[in-house]
Formats: sequence, structure tokens, C-alpha cells
Amino acid sequence: MDTPNALRSGWASRFGFILAATGSAVGLGNIWKFPYITGIHGGGAFVLVYLLCILLLGLPIMVAELLIGRCGQRDAIGSFMALEGRKSPWRLVGWGSVAAAFVLLSFYSVVAGWSFDYVCKAATGILHRGNPEQISGLFGELTASAPRLVFWQALFILTTVGIVIGGIRGGIERWSKILMPGLFGLLILLFLHGMFSPGGMQSLKFMFVPDFTKLTSRSLLDALGHAFFTLSLGAGVMITYGSYLDPEADLFGLSFRIALLDTLVAMLASLTIFSVVFSAGMPIDGGPGLVFKTLPILFMQLPFGKVLALVFFLLLAFAALTSAISMLEVVVAYVIDEWGWRRAKATSFGGGAAFLLGIPCALSFNLWEGIKLLPGRTVFQSFDMLVSSYLLPLGGLMVSLYAGWVWTKEREKPASCRLADSGVLFAVWHFLVRYLAPAAVLLVLLNEAGLFS
Ligand code: TRP
Repeated sequence: MDTPNALRSGWASRFGFILAATGSAVGLGNIWKFPYITGIHGGGAFVLVYLLCILLLGLPIMVAELLIGRCGQRDAIGSFMALEGRKSPWRLVGWGSVAAAFVLLSFYSVVAGWSFDYVCKAATGILHRGNPEQISGLFGELTASAPRLVFWQALFILTTVGIVIGGIRGGIERWSKILMPGLFGLLILLFLHGMFSPGGMQSLKFMFVPDFTKLTSRSLLDALGHAFFTLSLGAGVMITYGSYLDPEADLFGLSFRIALLDTLVAMLASLTIFSVVFSAGMPIDGGPGLVFKTLPILFMQLPFGKVLALVFFLLLAFAALTSAISMLEVVVAYVIDEWGWRRAKATSFGGGAAFLLGIPCALSFNLWEGIKLLPGRTVFQSFDMLVSSYLLPLGGLMVSLYAGWVWTKEREKPASCRLADSGVLFAVWHFLVRYLAPAAVLLVLLNEAGLFS
């Protein structure tokens, strides 16, 4: 084994780390995707399954990723090489993670760009003009315009680069300390407003009163897949962020707090969105258009709707930004650690490359709509499927296999490679990561590959 590197400097405080890691976890997945899939899968029962998946599957894998990073003291690929040797096949797991983070950034920034556009629309009042058809038509107008999509995507990546270039303390941690409290503040404001609206009660019932007849095997698998995505697992984020953690930090406690905050945001966002939808008597299973098409119409019918709309899209933009930061940092850490580049150069390079790869994704909503990469899927859809359905679960599977079967007691000599608790908590973790997590993730993967359909 290579010598694990001298401990590198990193987060200024554990609180700063929690905010940055929570910033990665809380993203479009929480505010855009979770509400609409919960709507489609019928609420309460789905939420319950999702919570179990976070607890039994997501948490143990998060602990494993943080541990690998903290022990290896390098980027996602370098950490595996530091632990297993330069030529070890485990480094391929690192490779898969960095590739996943990079491709994810390229198409995530297109959707994140929409949130920038809607902030602008809400601030200038364009979002409040005209009848409901015209308002929901704005979304189609946006995605039909290639220059506008590319412009917002570029601006979003530029903002991300501007933050990551400042480094861990001066960039990522500093901005997380501004953006995350901002996000929580805005969300609580909207949530309180939603709970006092006519649809508040109905929204609570929908989320928390389970109706198990609504559960299908598809909902189980979606819950599992989403638990994974929302915690930013399988793309090296937690390995990279973990490498900047101090050796004494309690990885169980930190992971638990991150997962708790992430879940809280997803719940509050869904309750808020559902209360608006119920207040207007609209159907709850509107799908992906829920946030960009349905919500703006509904905001217009509420008192203070203009302010609420602005606040909401600002929230979405903040959430997307702190997630994109973490994706870029995975790539940047790799380029700095393994190629020896300076941060400024590595960040501009990583951001620029992700921007270029994102252009075909943006164009696949308009000019290149007809071009299919995978059968029947546009470039955007193909990238999304490749990463969300295959690379991330595969990365998580390998991490749990590694932590459960390859990691030995021998490893745990330096403090940075030890989990603080070696009692009951450790035993539970080890069991989950050794048996339950790999089995469950394998199930999802096989299902995505079409084995059960
Ligand atoms: N978790 C984020 C969300 O919910 C997305 C995200 C950020 C992510 N970094 C990631 C997902 C790394 C997988 C891997 O939107």
C-alpha cells in the first residue's frame, strides 16, 4: 500500500463540513424530483419506504465513502490507490465515480440553468403576466431556445467555478455557510405560508398517512434509487469531502446529521409544494413539470404570490449551486492530486469541459431533439440514464462491497482510518454494508437493466 499521505488541511470546522456536505446532498433532487415522484407514487407509503432506504442503505454507504476518503487522504481515484496500491483494480471504482460526477455536472447544470432563468422571470415580473396557459407556456419557450439554455447553463457553471476556485475553506465552505442558511430560511418561510393555506392539512395527510395499496414494486425501486441520488452517493463526493476531514471526526454522527437535514429539506419542500397544489385543487401527480409549469400558475393565485415565486426559485437555484460545487470538486480534486495542477487551472479546465459536454444536453431540448444517443433517448436523457441509473448505483455497490468485504481490521491503524465507535453501532454498520446494501443496490441495478420487466 502507498503511504497514506500526510494529513492535508481541509474544513475550518465540522459545522462547515456539515453545511458543505448537506449542500451537496440537498439539490434539485430534493426540491424538484422528490415532490413529483412522491406525487406519482401516492404519498405516505412511498415516503415511509424512502425513509427506510435512507436509514438502512444510504447512511451506511455514506459512512463508507467518508471513511475511504479520510483514510486515503486523496481524491476519489487516489484514495483507492493509496489504500490498495497504484495498480489495484479498485482504482477503477474511483474512475467510475469521477466520470459520473463529471457527466452529472454537465447535464445537471442545464436544469440548474432553468432555475436561474426563473429567478430572473420572477424578479422582472414576466412570470406574473398573462393567463395560466401563457404562464405554463413560458417553460416551453425557454427549452425551445437553444441560445437561452446555453447562456444560463454557462452562467451557472461560471458561478460554480467562481466558488470552487476559492478552495475548500475560502470557496466551498465559505459559500455553503452563506447559501445553506439562506436556503433553510427561505424554505421555512415558504413552508409556514403553505401550512396556513387551505391545502395545508391535506398536504400533511398525503405525506404522512400511508396507504399501502398504492405501493408497487416500481415505487420500492424508485425510493431506493432516489435515496441514493439525494445523498450524493456513488460519485465520489463523500470520498472527496471526507479526505478533508480531521481524523477525530465521528463519521456516524456526521453522516446522520447530513442525512437528517437532507430528508428534512425534501419533506418541507414537498409539503410546501403539495399545499399549494391542493389549495388550487390541482392533481398532485403532475410529473416533472410540477415545479416549472404548475407552481408558477398557482403562485399567481396566492396572496404575496410574486414574492413567494421569487423566493421559491431562488431556493431552487441555491440548492442546485451547492450540489454542482460538489460535483466539480470531485473532478478538481482528482486533477490537483493526480496531475499536480494548481487549483485555478484545474477548476477552469473542469468547469470548461463540463460546459462543453453540457451543450449537446441543452441542444437536445430543441435543435438536436431528434438525435438519439441510446435508443429512444435524447443526449440529455441518455446521460441522465447512464449516470443516475447505472454509474451511481454501481459506484455505491462497489463502495459497500469494498467496505464490507475488503476493509480489514489491519487498515484501522492510523486514527483517520478508524470509525470512532467499534461497538454496537459498528456491528450494525458492518452488517448493513456487507450484506443488505449490496443486495439491495444489486436489485435496483438488475431492475434497471430490465431483468424483471
Ligand atoms: N444530491 C443532489 C440532489 O439531490 C445531487 C448530487 C450532487 C449528486 N452531487 C451528487 C448526486 C453526486 C449523485 C452524486 O440534487
